[in-house]
Amino acid sequence: MGKKIVILNGSPRMKGNTSSLTAEFRRGAEEAGNEVREFFLPRMKINGCLGCWKGGKDPEHPCAQRDGMDEIYPVYREADVVVLASPLYYWSVSGFLKNAFDRLFAVAECDPDYRNPRKECVLIMAAEGTGFEESEYWYDRLGKHIGWKSLGKVLCGNVAQPGDTEGRPELKQAYDLGKTIY
Ligand SMILES: Cc1cc2nc3c(=O)[nH]c(=O)nc-3n(C[C@H](O)[C@H](O)[C@H](O)COP(=O)(O)O)c2cc1C
Repeated sequence: MGKKIVILNGSPRMKGNTSSLTAEFRRGAEEAGNEVREFFLPRMKINGCLGCWKGGKDPEHPCAQRDGMDEIYPVYREADVVVLASPLYYWSVSGFLKNAFDRLFAVAECDPDYRNPRKECVLIMAAEGTGFEESEYWYDRLGKHIGWKSLGKVLCGNVAQPGDTEGRPELKQAYDLGKTIY
């Protein structure tokens, strides 16, 4: 049986470089028999975390705020693999992805010890340059501190405008990575 995969896509360009990479990843993952759900975060209404520490009381609606995250929470809970996808914005992930990610804390609040659910994860990013280091550092910390296991990263540098990923080996890398998951 395949795995359940959720893609949190923080690119506002649905036909941009990040989305070309997630599409290939998704094609590979679906061909391998996995179930994939992709959320285009900028199309949803997702507020930033308010840091109120008042979540976790109702697992159905773990956060004290009610917004687009209510669609993501049940899919996230069920997911075996979480794909974090984003363009590089000022050497970091986009605010759309960071906002949604911070809001996953509400699920950890459902645990008496604030433990995040254990997941496997993937990082997919596109950038005009190649300065992915800070984003990788953030992502690697998910493994170190919340126990997530990385299945791989696809980092496609030197792409600025939609279509720039065409012919790039990272598309195949994304497809192959999706295909290895089952
Ligand atoms: C607000 C903003 C900040 C950016 N910051 C960086 C950066 O720090 N380093 C970089 O290499 N590219 C940067 N870029 C370029 C994007 O990462 C690049 O165009 C990427 O391919 C966009 O992906 P998308 O097509 O999925 O939107 C920035 C773009 C924007 C709009």
